[in-house]
Amino acid sequence: MTQVESPRRSQGRVVTLDGLTADTCEVLMTASTPDRSGRHNLDPHLDRYAARTAGMTASEIRALFAVASRPEVVSLAGGMPNLAALPLESLSTQIGELIADEGLVALQYGSAHGIPVLREQICEIMALEGISAHPDDVVVTVGSQMGLDMVTRLFCDPGDIVLAEGPSYVGALGSFAAYQAQVVHVAMDDDGLVPEALREALAQAAKAGKRVKFLYTIPNFHNPAGVTLAVERRAEIVEICRAHGVLVIEDNPYGLLGFDGQTYPALRSLDPDNVIYLGSFSKTFASGLRVGWVLAPHAVREKLVLAAESATLCPPTLNQMIVSRYLTTHDWKGQIKTFRENYRERRDAILGALEQHMPTGCSWTTPDGGFYVWVTVPEGVDTKAMLPRAVTARVAYASGTGFYADGFGSRQMRLSYCYPTPERIREGVRRLAGVLESEMDLVRTFGNVSMKPISGPENPSPDTA
Ligand SMILES: Cc1ncc(COP(=O)(O)O)c(C=O)c1O
Repeated sequence: MTQVESPRRSQGRVVTLDGLTADTCEVLMTASTPDRSGRHNLDPHLDRYAARTAGMTASEIRALFAVASRPEVVSLAGGMPNLAALPLESLSTQIGELIADEGLVALQYGSAHGIPVLREQICEIMALEGISAHPDDVVVTVGSQMGLDMVTRLFCDPGDIVLAEGPSYVGALGSFAAYQAQVVHVAMDDDGLVPEALREALAQAAKAGKRVKFLYTIPNFHNPAGVTLAVERRAEIVEICRAHGVLVIEDNPYGLLGFDGQTYPALRSLDPDNVIYLGSFSKTFASGLRVGWVLAPHAVREKLVLAAESATLCPPTLNQMIVSRYLTTHDWKGQIKTFRENYRERRDAILGALEQHMPTGCSWTTPDGGFYVWVTVPEGVDTKAMLPRAVTARVAYASGTGFYADGFGSRQMRLSYCYPTPERIREGVRRLAGVLESEMDLVRTFGNVSMKPISGPENPSPDTA
């Protein structure tokens, strides 16, 4: 359990900042077993866990979620897609018809590979980013998060190096930690991953006699950095990896959410034999259905199907059929355009508010698609230490350290503009700027206000994804 600070009242119950009610804390304390020294240990199974669980820690914003999700707090922390524009009525009719027409198939087990018709449709979607693929090489997963987990399971032994942009997606860092891979971050700039930094990281690993298993990269509308890999860098990065015998894992859930409808050539289209591609319907349709996919070179695909079988037997047949029917009967491209327009309006709101309110010395990225802005604050301010004060001022963000495996990011924060309304976003940024001003005052008066230890990678949660 994380440190319990300043309990607050919510509907008559005391809610602590880590989301447990005081009653729950009491029950847990009562249920816990004393250790040899007579102290209460909240988890009596502590000495039974496998060594690999040491890398598993809860996301820090999850600890603040009970407070951050209260309506008076503007949350710029979560990466939840804004689903309000979905045609719920016609979807519910379609789902009802699906069960009536094909219920005995939809409610039955399926194959670990995924249903053939959806795998064909997925190939058509990937063609929009230049990928030519055979449906046999697509494996449907329970969200692309499962793809990440499986790929790491297949390739990483404890101590293997995984290269990833710095910063990188929290959920990927969580998977890498769970399999005890060592993450080495590679620098990015406004044009995404820097090829020279990639060469340098590979050279360092070779010098240290370490095996690099793959480069994990999010080329489009990066989570959390908000930047996109320049087209002219793509072939170079793929080439560097090939030359060093390093696989590329391309994670692309946001690729169709470019605000001008622009798309970029997938890395997979440049080197089909050395790139494993992860896709998802979470950001372009419905995250709750948990349907994603992996496109892998043929040999890897065999192993993926076996890994998927041992994890889940098969992805949910009903959900796959819902996605497939939606793609057949709805104007899904028109729906993505509507999503893009909503997100663009929110992106404009956040950039305008940052420009208007943020104190001098702050900088941020300018996303042209996706959900996130990455903000850097002046030296001396620690965004993790500042977070409880921001929540007290009724605004939440995701502090930068969660997006690094090595403790960096204390001067950064991720702001998600995908979910709140433009008015709420403007108000949230105004509040955040006020908190930052006070923090900078403190720094000017007392020096660095950081009080938190360096932390490792964190597991994702729906509120931080
Ligand atoms: C970069 C990235 N990869 C993967 C995921 C997981 O997506 P899914 O919902 O498909 O599991 C997310 C979710 O936020 C993400 O941002």
